Amino acid sequence: MGDPRLLQRARPVTEFATPALRALLQDMTDTMIHLDGAGLAAPQIGVDLQVVIFGFDFNPRYSHAEPIPHTVLINPQLTPLAEEQAEDWEGCLSVPGMRGMVPRYTRLRYRGCDADGVFFEREVADFHARVVQHECDHLAGILYPMRIRDLSRFGFTDVLFPDKGVATD
Ligand code: NI
Repeated sequence: MGDPRLLQRARPVTEFATPALRALLQDMTDTMIHLDGAGLAAPQIGVDLQVVIFGFDFNPRYSHAEPIPHTVLINPQLTPLAEEQAEDWEGCLSVPGMRGMVPRYTRLRYRGCDADGVFFEREVADFHARVVQHECDHLAGILYPMRIRDLSRFGFTDVLFPDKGVATD
């Protein structure tokens, strides 16, 4: 947080199935796994493209979360399917050691392409919907602290959750 590359609107991908795109996705996957992320967006590693990845079977940083399928989502478009929003704790690998209470749509449809440029869409809810909104916000230059409504619900993970003995990000 503080790097201007995280505050830009990312460019769409125009060429798929290229060695450069495969290398980017590998780099992003390595980074996400190394840091136990639920997802990662290309701007977080300094790449100005509309590419996000997310998914896990079990995530120690969100130990109560249901699994999310491992997904590559390029040039995404999000459409909320209900007005309803819910608040829950979020963290971000670009804001290490902190958590904040963030409102998100509870149900949405997302559309985009996979690494080969094949279009797909899904309708999702709850934590899956939250993760997609968080990652796609990165492509619009938005970090989750910018969405917190009550800044008294923003703080250091180990202070907010002292009993959990969890990692510090
Ligand atoms: Ni993030």
